[in-house]
Amino acid sequence: MKTTLLSHSDLADLVGRIGLDRLMDELIERLASAFVDYDPRATEVPARDGFHYQEPEPGLIEWMPLMKRGEMMLMKVVGYHPHSPLPTILSTFGLFDTATGAMIALADGTLMTALRTGAASAVASRWLARPESRTIGLIGCGAQAVTQLHAIGRVFDFAEVLTHDIDAAALASFPERVAPFLSEGTDVVATPVDDLVATCDILCTATSVEVGAGPVFDGSRTRDWLHVNSIGADVPGKVEVPLSLLRRSFVCPDFPLQARVEGECQQLLPEDIGPEICEIARCPSAFVEWQSKRSVFDSTGFALEDYIVLELMLEHAREYSVGTEMEISGVGEDPRDPYESLSKATNKTHFASGDPIAGVRLSRE
Ligand SMILES: NC(=O)c1ccc[n+]([C@@H]2O[C@H](COP(=O)([O-])OP(=O)(O)OC[C@H]3O[C@@H](n4cnc5c(N)ncnc54)[C@H](O)[C@@H]3O)[C@@H](O)[C@H]2O)c1
Repeated sequence: MKTTLLSHSDLADLVGRIGLDRLMDELIERLASAFVDYDPRATEVPARDGFHYQEPEPGLIEWMPLMKRGEMMLMKVVGYHPHSPLPTILSTFGLFDTATGAMIALADGTLMTALRTGAASAVASRWLARPESRTIGLIGCGAQAVTQLHAIGRVFDFAEVLTHDIDAAALASFPERVAPFLSEGTDVVATPVDDLVATCDILCTATSVEVGAGPVFDGSRTRDWLHVNSIGADVPGKVEVPLSLLRRSFVCPDFPLQARVEGECQQLLPEDIGPEICEIARCPSAFVEWQSKRSVFDSTGFALEDYIVLELMLEHAREYSVGTEMEISGVGEDPRDPYESLSKATNKTHFASGDPIAGVRLSRE
């Protein structure tokens, strides 16, 4: 009963072998196909849940499950701690066999979350943004902004990247963080937020704006064809896009069940919310008119995207023999005897001498 462990350094090793651009291209295509094929009867995705708290720092830890009927269950655990010195988003993926409950894989999910969030925006932008888009605007220049730019830049040919962040250090370090994948000659220009919104063709908002403090821009001046990928509205009360712009736009949620509670869709009435990304995936030509009008992809984070990125990384891990196979769960010959494997692994005398349970005895005295 072996579990495949993929640490952050295993994933970095894999990315080095595959190449970041090729990996992103593969992920974008896989995700687009997964949206087309998504059948909620075969792949069950409940809305996520979690613990939200203010102490010791404002943050949350959530669990995002998915089950492929008759095959496997994915449980992603994700933390959001915007005041932490570590990445704001940290996550771990556990994959389980639904025939036995055995853990198939355990993997660092932080890089994979950033990759799949970027890839999802690339897919949505391909279907809803103007194909000739040359200017992308980024509000919030943290970790997710890097993969937003990388992924969407695989689909569009940008001449200009406009950036805005309330944190001067994040803004200043952004050009260096994106230089490894940016085409030569593409300008990255820090721009006042209203000018950024007024001039870009595609806008990504990926901020850690606090609950109740949004929206993060005004939105009264935009291109007629502006496409927005809203990434950071993912908690009740946390929004990035002004209601006035949502009302003037075609709004496509990634996962309506969740988006209505946590995403930009929480600001809208059900009748003002457009079809979900999977519906657009099944017939993009029916929505092509929106490429020349305003649209918003309300990305709250869909567990299907987590499953697809993990599946892809596990395939590559097998191909390149990267990762560690570990027997986390042990089994004896008699499934009814939980002590059998202990006595083989250690020594029967442990039970007699009492060493391992001495503490238990003491605490009872
Ligand atoms: N939709 C998804 O699937 C998904 C996936 C991962 C993360 N997220 C969300 O995306 C957001 C960004 O995540 P991250 O990992 O990049 O975080 P991060 O902390 O690395 O970056 C967030 C940036 O937003 C900036 N910011 C905060 N308020 C702002 C404002 N009003 N205007 C401009 N900039 C502002 C911060 O200064 C920071 O640089 C978070 O809210 C996170 O929950 C969503």
